[in-house]
Amino acid sequence: MRYAWWRIAVFTCAASVPCYWLALAWQFALGPDPGKVLVDNLGQGALVLLLLTLGMTPLQRVTGWGGWLAVRRQLGLWTFSYALLHLTSYLYFLLGGEFSRLGEELQERPYILVGMLGFLGLTALSLTSNRWSMRRLGKRWKALHRLIYLIIIVALLHMLWVVRSDVGRWFLYAAIATALLALRIPVVAIALGKLQRGKKKIRNKPEING
Ligand code: HEM
Repeated sequence: MRYAWWRIAVFTCAASVPCYWLALAWQFALGPDPGKVLVDNLGQGALVLLLLTLGMTPLQRVTGWGGWLAVRRQLGLWTFSYALLHLTSYLYFLLGGEFSRLGEELQERPYILVGMLGFLGLTALSLTSNRWSMRRLGKRWKALHRLIYLIIIVALLHMLWVVRSDVGRWFLYAAIATALLALRIPVVAIALGKLQRGKKKIRNKPEING
């Protein structure tokens, strides 16, 4: 399989981060409220992975290296896994498993509903990230997977609602997301493609000696 080591490296990094956080939480090394730190870290992890997933195509266009695309699907599935862990740790640590309180929680903290919408979108993308769904859905597959643009906006809104006044990191994520979305505008994407083809031509030009 091409890029096998690269794929394994990405897998190992993405899998070890939540294990490390869980181990710290287990040893009460995440401060006085480990549950909350875990929920926050996993939420931010999901957002960072979402941005990374969105960044793979532009990186491939600029560098011409196929390895970026080789890990795109994996990163998308890791985004979903982190979001699932984020949701599970919210239900377990912050809600204490009292599902009957969920209705009351949604009224008090509407950003949870926004997070749930993002999670539903990620679920749809993960379930259809396979060759069988691609074949079955045909042209509709691409349209469905454009949902990623909406999910990133929903996730940023969800985070902004949580952090409120402490918006430093939020601005950083929002700026990266804006740049990545701008790169998907057809004229910009075409210009990037041309840049890459131009680079290839220069590399392949035979050297003139003497
Ligand atoms: C069912 C879905 C979701 C639920 C129930 C949920 C719940 C929560 C809760 C309760 C918090 C605040 C924790 C606290 O500080 O008190 C939070 C924060 C956050 N969530 Fe979610 N969330 C969901 C989905 C998502 C998704 C899909 C993403 C991103 C892809 C996400 C990213 C974040 C981020 C970045 C934060 C802020 C973390 C911080 O303050 O450092 N969440 N979420």
